[in-house]
Amino acid sequence: MNYQYIIYEKSEGVATITLNRPDALNAWSKELAQEFLGAMNDARSDEAVKAVIITGAGDKAFSAGADIKAMKGMTALKARELSNMGYKICNAIETIEKPVIAAINGYALGGGMEVSMACDFRIASDKARMGQTEVNIGLIPGWGGTQRLTRLVGKARAKELVYIGKIINADTAHQWGLVNMIVPAPELMTAARQFAQELANKAPVAVKVAKALIEKGAEIDLESALALEREGFGVVASSEDLQEGVSAFTEKRKPGWKGK
Ligand code: CAA
Repeated sequence: MNYQYIIYEKSEGVATITLNRPDALNAWSKELAQEFLGAMNDARSDEAVKAVIITGAGDKAFSAGADIKAMKGMTALKARELSNMGYKICNAIETIEKPVIAAINGYALGGGMEVSMACDFRIASDKARMGQTEVNIGLIPGWGGTQRLTRLVGKARAKELVYIGKIINADTAHQWGLVNMIVPAPELMTAARQFAQELANKAPVAVKVAKALIEKGAEIDLESALALEREGFGVVASSEDLQEGVSAFTEKRKPGWKGK
């Protein structure tokens, strides 16, 4: 498939989706979203893909959010469509049964920050800047920012970002637990690829089930979540990968995962 608004590459088990509207700081247009969802579908169904990286083209932005210019005269119905579009993007990230890394190379604002928060991991360059800046244009986050952000950093910090629309730097984002690690800007993609590769080399069934359990379990009561974990543990234990992992351990060799 030919893409105009993203760059989609696959190499050594890792798919990389680069949001590619650098002149608009990789703001999400409808077309970009459609292409992104197409690439995510491909990554989902391609068994050779074991991890996904999302990043932004250029050195200025991961993504500056939803396309503000398309909001002129926006009706409630259109706003609902826009919010649905963000829901589909974030849902595709959370439900793909493979780890997804946001490599945040600059501004991650509004919907840009919201998409990064749906990812399993956020690796920030030291140039990254994050914020839920919607209030500055008279709006609120509509792609999960009032919810995922609160779950990640707690109510007080979420309110600080959402009510004030302030932009925080990589150090603050790291201190707040918003990003997993910070790396110097020129090393961002190498670090993201190394991290993705490390994930790609792990037992696929175990990673897939762990992702589902952590995503679901964080949203339900502990007793139900622990019940889910016990079921998941049984499922993973019945995989060929467990037998391979145990054999590799006893034979003192590297495991060759089958993903079954
Ligand atoms: N939508 C459309 N275009 C955008 C954009 C956006 N979200 N953000 C930046 N751009 C465009 C600018 O209009 C500009 O284009 P032109 O050259 O054609 O004017 C180009 O990208 C470069 O931007 P700036 O000149 O503004 O660059 P800067 O370095 O001076 O400022 C910035 C950078 C602080 C990120 C600033 O661009 C900015 O504040 N952008 C808006 C960020 C924002 O509020 N995002 C939230 C959007 S709403 C949302 O996402 C809702 C939701 O929950 C889904």
